[in-house]
Amino acid sequence: MKTQVAIIGAGPAGLLLGHLLRAEGVDCVVLERQTGDYVLSRIRAGVLEGVTVGLMRRLGLDARLKAEGLVEEGFNLADGERLIRIDVAALTGRTVTVYGQTEVTKDLMDAAQERQLQVIYEAGDVALHDIESDAPFVTYSHQGNPQRLDARFIIGCDGFHGPSRKAIPASAVREYERVYPFGWLGILADVPPCNHELIYANHARGFALASMRSHTRSRYYVDVPLSERIEDWPDDRIWDELAIRLGPEAAAGMTRGPSIEKSIAPLRSYVFEPMRHGSLLLCGDSAHIVPPTGAKGLNLAASDVHYAVEALAGWFRHHDADAIAGYSAKALARVWKSERFSWSLTRLMHRFPEDGPFERAMQVAELDYIASSRAAQTSIAENYVGLPL
Ligand code: APR
Ligand code: PHB
Repeated sequence: MKTQVAIIGAGPAGLLLGHLLRAEGVDCVVLERQTGDYVLSRIRAGVLEGVTVGLMRRLGLDARLKAEGLVEEGFNLADGERLIRIDVAALTGRTVTVYGQTEVTKDLMDAAQERQLQVIYEAGDVALHDIESDAPFVTYSHQGNPQRLDARFIIGCDGFHGPSRKAIPASAVREYERVYPFGWLGILADVPPCNHELIYANHARGFALASMRSHTRSRYYVDVPLSERIEDWPDDRIWDELAIRLGPEAAAGMTRGPSIEKSIAPLRSYVFEPMRHGSLLLCGDSAHIVPPTGAKGLNLAASDVHYAVEALAGWFRHHDADAIAGYSAKALARVWKSERFSWSLTRLMHRFPEDGPFERAMQVAELDYIASSRAAQTSIAENYVGLPL
């Protein structure tokens, strides 16, 4: 089989890229290791920046997002009894939208057939070949048969564990990594949220986040040591912990209910450079990971995709090689700023086991500063709504 662009991975990055390329008249095929149902079973964050919403709008795939997404004008930082509201709408003139990543993926998946975006699910043993040439290709197996897909470019949208990044020779790359000494234990429940806006809490017992998917579905997190096992966290224990960490006001508004999903996810900051090697471009989690504090993961994947589409459209329209050559630097400039924001919000809102009184005093001083300074709040707000492309 032959196409112009081979996309590996049908997560949000791969599907968004596929649709946008089709809209530009570029042929592409998406190869996904899992089934569609499996892809949709992954629960991830749910706060969309304007850039991400804008791409769904550009595709005309935002009907459900517009109808069901919750437009958020602010969010809160809690520190013990104190609640600092960041009025992002007043500070930036912009908002974010609460809409689950799973829903974004579903909307993109549902539209694939009608828009003739070819997605091959259950593609096994995907391997990249000749990425340093102008005629790269991908081999894979499908329904027991070996297959080959030739393309002008390959785009790795295959997440942190996929094969794309690993196809780049080690001598050409640089990796940056920070792992955190805790994970987020998340719970999803069909109960109304405790607050109409998100609350990120830094409590003596640890971090907590109150988030939501809708007016009737809540998503909460507490941080736990990586050694914790989910079996040791019955729902009641999580609700008790949330009530303490989120503070009395949120606790008073909290409705408890049975969990419909519960898991522990480790936190990591990771950047892989460069994001292009020869005819291979990387987008999303295949090239970088942010800790979930600030919900930048999907949004960063969306901005990578935006830059990749610009570069690929330029190449297929008028053989603009500079656009392809410039992709990595352009994408990485925004990646690093999001990495910085996610890392600094993680640092501010979590109790690190190695921290002593000095580090805690720094957190208190920073939260005091944020509470009293419009400039500090604006800085947080403009990162939260998403920096310009
Ligand atoms: N062959 C084909 N597909 C693969 C392979 C492989 N060998 N390995 C992984 N994939 C697929 C995965 O099954 C998954 O569907 O690539 C997809 C990658 O999707 P995500 O991990 O969701 O990554 P991405 O699309 O970059 O999304 C970025 O979404 O997943 C979140 O935390 C992530 O919020 C971030 C954003
Ligand atoms: C979520 O709703 O799952 C969520 C929200 C904000 C975050 C992370 C996760 O920072």
